[in-house]
Amino acid sequence: MVGTGNYVSAVVFKPVSNRVLVFDACLDFMSKTSEHPFLKGITDKLDRPVRDLRISVTDRCNFRCTYCMPAEMFGERYEFLPRPDILTFEEIERLARLFAQAGVSKLRITGGEPLVRANLPELVGKLSKIDGIDDIALTTNGYLLAKNAQALKDAGLNRLTISLDSIDEDIFKKMSGQPQGPANTLEGIQVATELGFSPIKINVVVQRSVNDHTLVDTARYFKGTGAIVRFIEFMDVGTKNSWELSQVVTSKEVIEIISEEFALEPVDPNYSGEVASRYRYVDGEGEIGVISSVSEPFCGNCTRARLSTDGKLVTCLFASGGTDFKTAMRDGAADDEIAGMIARVWTGRDDRYSELRSKGPEFQAGTAGDKVEMYYIGG
Ligand code: GTP
Ligand code: 5AD
Ligand code: SF4
Ligand code: SF4
Repeated sequence: MVGTGNYVSAVVFKPVSNRVLVFDACLDFMSKTSEHPFLKGITDKLDRPVRDLRISVTDRCNFRCTYCMPAEMFGERYEFLPRPDILTFEEIERLARLFAQAGVSKLRITGGEPLVRANLPELVGKLSKIDGIDDIALTTNGYLLAKNAQALKDAGLNRLTISLDSIDEDIFKKMSGQPQGPANTLEGIQVATELGFSPIKINVVVQRSVNDHTLVDTARYFKGTGAIVRFIEFMDVGTKNSWELSQVVTSKEVIEIISEEFALEPVDPNYSGEVASRYRYVDGEGEIGVISSVSEPFCGNCTRARLSTDGKLVTCLFASGGTDFKTAMRDGAADDEIAGMIARVWTGRDDRYSELRSKGPEFQAGTAGDKVEMYYIGG
């Protein structure tokens, strides 16, 4: 039931009603440490610790990117989560605090588009005070960033990742599924740069015959600015983006395309398990990254947990569901019970979808058919 070689394996789990679990052990230990004994040092079935919690604060977005929320499926009648189903800031903070006790030091706030959620800096402020959290990042499409960047910085946000698939006006409109060009996003990047966010990362999802002819222009635009452009292989995440392997431009191809214009050389990762492979411009004008989730999966190092907008803990981007923490919290579960749930989910985890994808559909049990959508669990 639980992993070996850690404290949690010593805990006795007793099912109580059909909702939560109660623990009999460790009370002595708990009184002596701020780290929760059920969570300390937990690893999953493949020996991976949990280091990174990605929190989706809304399933709504002001864009309709064709690879994420295509406009024809997410029209005016589409029913997003009703407000009562969305975790409050206090609930998010509580879960993040317990995750920090499980080893999480990095939080990423995502969506949907996180800046459409009211008062987001208030959440950042709460999260930045949690013991053990030393990095809070935000992934945004940048449209509302210019007017929010200062408040986010003041609240304690450390890093920004901005999605921008092309600096070409028409390609940007087409891919983002809305009528504006990239001007607002570029202004947001400018304001954030002036405020000292560094390094700003720019995420470009690459789709063959859609934006692959604009990669060099996008790279050129940011070259020498300090921003790091990361080219991401288009993934088969969710069920609504009509993904086909033929639309994937591999990272290898991307590097070839950029190298034709600018000389590049590989650089060592910043940390073990970094998702992007790094390359620097030989002329010293910065670096780019490539994210090879399809051609070279990185599940072996996956230390990422995802919290959905309505409080489900999802252990893989390609999972078909998650464990409901909202109901447990609203039913009055104590921290011990929530900690036990986290330990149980993480120590039972064996996800490695991207690695199995390459072996064929018969290896993808539990993930076929009904995969959760990316805007609901965050990128
Ligand atoms: P930092 O290194 O902290 O800056 O962030 P990161 O590299 O984790 O970057 P980010 O969160 O922006 O992720 C970039 C993209 O990589 C995402 O939008 C996804 O497309 C992809 N990605 C991130 N995490 C995973 C993952 O766990 N599995 C897969 N398959 N893809 C991922
Ligand atoms: N493939 C790759 N990346 C994706 N993202 C969203 N959908 C996909 C997909 N199908 C990325 C976006 C954004 C982040 C939230 O997730 O580029 O940067
Ligand atoms: Fe919105 Fe980001 Fe999805 Fe685009 S990729 S629709 S910006 S959540
Ligand atoms: Fe992690 Fe799942 Fe992505 Fe693999 S496919 S890196 S297990 S989220």
